[in-house]
Amino acid sequence: MVGDFKNFIKTNQMKKIGVLTSGGDAPGMNAAIRSVVRTALFNNIEVVGVYRGYDGLIDDDFAPMTTASVANILQRGGTILKSMRSDGFRTKEGRQKAYDNLKKNNIDGLVVIGGDGTFTGANIFTKEFNFPIVGLAGTIDNDLVGTDFTIGYDTALNTVIDAVDKIRDTADSHNRVFVVEVMGKDAGYIALRTGIGCGAEAVLYPESDVYIDHLLAKLGNKNRQRRSSIVIVAEGAKEGGAIEVADSVRNEFPHFDVRVVVLGHVQRGGSPSCMERVRASQLGMEAVESLLAGKEAVMIGIVDKNIEYTPFEKAIKHTGKMNKKLLKMTDVLSI
Ligand code: F6P
Repeated sequence: MVGDFKNFIKTNQMKKIGVLTSGGDAPGMNAAIRSVVRTALFNNIEVVGVYRGYDGLIDDDFAPMTTASVANILQRGGTILKSMRSDGFRTKEGRQKAYDNLKKNNIDGLVVIGGDGTFTGANIFTKEFNFPIVGLAGTIDNDLVGTDFTIGYDTALNTVIDAVDKIRDTADSHNRVFVVEVMGKDAGYIALRTGIGCGAEAVLYPESDVYIDHLLAKLGNKNRQRRSSIVIVAEGAKEGGAIEVADSVRNEFPHFDVRVVVLGHVQRGGSPSCMERVRASQLGMEAVESLLAGKEAVMIGIVDKNIEYTPFEKAIKHTGKMNKKLLKMTDVLSI
């Protein structure tokens, strides 16, 4: 009952909210921004966009958002609000300035869209100033607990698959081994699914127990019919990146023709997939409704089609989230 009363007060006090994107950009962030803005306006709540992530909070870089401000952005990659990894927000002085600016602009609640760094900052801030913040997981890395898929992940997977399918054509024509490095920071979620999706001969990523000797044994197996191979390497793999892995393959098999492709930031751009747009729109709407319902310090995600609220400090601990069956599948299907 007490909780209900607290929520009642909060709901009725919330007249203006802010939205920002922070950390590495991800396709679908614009769809989420559009949804936050339009859901707020639908509920007669004013919305301001905060530019350049937490730096914009510190520098008072705010702009009022209208339905027109978010027109024609649903299909665009990147983020119209720009994004930053803020050093200033790591300091108490920076966060104090951010809070002062929020108060000065009469902002009652905030939606932050980003990854683990974004939620780490939001968690400190929300506790320090008792300011309501909810988060949406926007990162290609998919490295957050409390959501099946982060905003940006699906599109990044499709970008990788598109590239590797093309690489496969040339690899096959020349009987070459291609070692392809994908992003993911310290996690292997991009490598895991793209490895399965492109039928890679081997996948190396931080969470797997497939090590370089296993890869070399596989490539050297005389019974293998194929002479071309795709090896997907997560940037955080224990063996190092694609260049190091390619060197190990060359050392072991000097007669192999080995090439390296580092896909890099191409994985962060591009038009979001339809699933991405739908998911981001759904989450944007939930973010506003959650703020109005008095939620704070939680990341909003979708797990098994249900909306879930995960405290920021829990959301950032992704270890153990990886699907064990998929882990096994990368090995089984590439015999
Ligand atoms: O978190 C998203 C991500 O693209 C990671 O996969 C990658 O490690 C990192 O950001 C790259 O960051 P930057 O754009 O600062 O080089």
